[in-house]
Amino acid sequence: MPNIRLDYSNMMNSRTKGGFYEAFLDAQTGRAAQAMRTWREIRGQGMAGWAELPYNQDVVVGEIEQYAADVRGRFNALVVFGIGGSSLGPLAVHQALNHLHYNELASTKVRFYVEDNIDPERMAALLDVIDPETTLFNVVSKSGETPETLSQFMIIRDILRRRMPETHQEHIVCTCGEKGSLADCARAAGYRMFIIPEGVGGRFSQLCPVGLLPAAICGIDIRELLRGAARADAWCLGEDLRQNPALLAALMQTEATRQGRTVSVMMPYADRLRMTADWYAQLWAESLGKLHDNNGKTVRTGQTPVKALGVTDQHSLLQLYVEGPLDKVIIFLTVEEHSAEFEIPHNPCSAETEETGSYLVGHTLGGLLKAECRATAYALAQSGQLNMTVTLPVLSAFTMGQLLYFFELQTALAGILQNIDPFNQPGVEQSKRATFALLGRPGYDGLRQEILSTQDDEKYII
Ligand code: PA5
Repeated sequence: MPNIRLDYSNMMNSRTKGGFYEAFLDAQTGRAAQAMRTWREIRGQGMAGWAELPYNQDVVVGEIEQYAADVRGRFNALVVFGIGGSSLGPLAVHQALNHLHYNELASTKVRFYVEDNIDPERMAALLDVIDPETTLFNVVSKSGETPETLSQFMIIRDILRRRMPETHQEHIVCTCGEKGSLADCARAAGYRMFIIPEGVGGRFSQLCPVGLLPAAICGIDIRELLRGAARADAWCLGEDLRQNPALLAALMQTEATRQGRTVSVMMPYADRLRMTADWYAQLWAESLGKLHDNNGKTVRTGQTPVKALGVTDQHSLLQLYVEGPLDKVIIFLTVEEHSAEFEIPHNPCSAETEETGSYLVGHTLGGLLKAECRATAYALAQSGQLNMTVTLPVLSAFTMGQLLYFFELQTALAGILQNIDPFNQPGVEQSKRATFALLGRPGYDGLRQEILSTQDDEKYII
C-alpha cells in the first residue's frame, strides 16, 4: 500500500537560510517527546475523540454503506447544507477522489452540491439545476444551531413539504449531534439521522458521518479512507522527533511562527487537491488562532493560512513569496503518479520553424507539473522562504485518508506545543451569538442592544 511522505529538506538551514539546524532539532527532542506523551494521554478523550475514528466506526460505516447504496438508486442529486467543518471536508474529499467534472459526466448517478454560503442567488441557482423531487438533502450541523444551515434547511423543507406532503421525509437526512434542535427535529419528523460523535468537532469531522456519508453516496470507498487514516496514525505514533512527521511538522511550524513566519501557505500541485488547501486553512486557522493560552494568558497567536495552487499561482502569488517578506512556511502537496497523463508531442507549426517550446517535447504534463513544483521549492529555498513537501504516491482514498489524518494530528500537536486548545473556537461562537442577537433570538436582547449601539456611526460613513 502506498504511503505519503514528508520532505522537510527546505526547512533546514543546510538548504534554506534561516532554516533549522540539526542541533536545534536535537535540543527539541525532549519537548517533542513530552508533547507526544501528552497526545497519547488525551487522544480519544474530550474533543480529541476524532483520533479514534479510524477504529471505532464499524457499525456506522456499515449503515452508511447500506443507506448510500439505497439512495444511489433513488436520487439523481445530493445536496449538502452545512458550513465550516461540515462543508470543507466533504468538498475536499469529493474533489480529490472523484472526477474533476463529476457533475457533468454522463456516467454520474448522483450529482453532488455543497451549499455552505447563504447568498440567496446561490440558493436560486441551486434550485435551477436540481429537481427537489429527485434530490436528497443532507443537513449537516453538529450544534444544530448554526443559522446558515438552519435557514437553508427551513427553506428546503418548506419546498419539499409543499411539493411532496406525504414523502418529503425521505428527501432529508440529518447529520448532527445526538442532542440539539436539529436532532429533535429529525426525530420528530422521522428524518434519517447519522450522529456526529460528541468528541468530534466540525473541522475534525471529515472521517465521521459528516464526510463519510456524502463520500459513500458519491461512490468513494470510505473504508479505504479510514484505513489510510489509521496508517497515518501508525506513521506518527513515536516520540522520536525525526521519525514522526506530524510531530516534526508541528514543531517546525510552531517555532517558525515564533520566529515571525506567521503565514502558512498550502500550495497543492494538483487540481484535485485544491479544496484540500481550503479544508486545511480552516483547520489551521480555527484550531491555532487563539487569544488565550491554556493558562488564560493573552497570547493572540496563530499563523494565517493562505491557499494557493501550483502552477496557477506561480503566475500570481509567487513573486511575493520569493521576494516579499520572509514570513511564510509553504507546504507543497504533490502527486507522484497522476491518473491521467499527456505526452507533449513534436508537432511544429511548419517544417521550417522549430518551436521555442521544442525543449518540452517528450516530457509529460505531469512531469512538467513536478518540475515546476521542484523549481518553485528551489527558488523559495534560495530566497530564504521555508518550505516542505508532502508527496502522495497516488491520489486514492487510502492516501487521502492519510493526508487528512496527518494534518489533523499535526494541528493537535501544534496546539499542545503552543499550550493552546486547538479544539475550541470562541471567536466563531462569538460571531454566531452576535448573529442570533441581531436576528432577534430570545435570550440575546442585551447583546442585541450592545451591538446596535455600536453600529453605524454616521461620522465614519462617507
Ligand atoms: O470547526 C468548527 O467547529 C466549525 O467550523 C463548525 O464546523 C461550523 O461553525 C459549523 O458548526 P455546526 O456543525 O455546529 O453547524
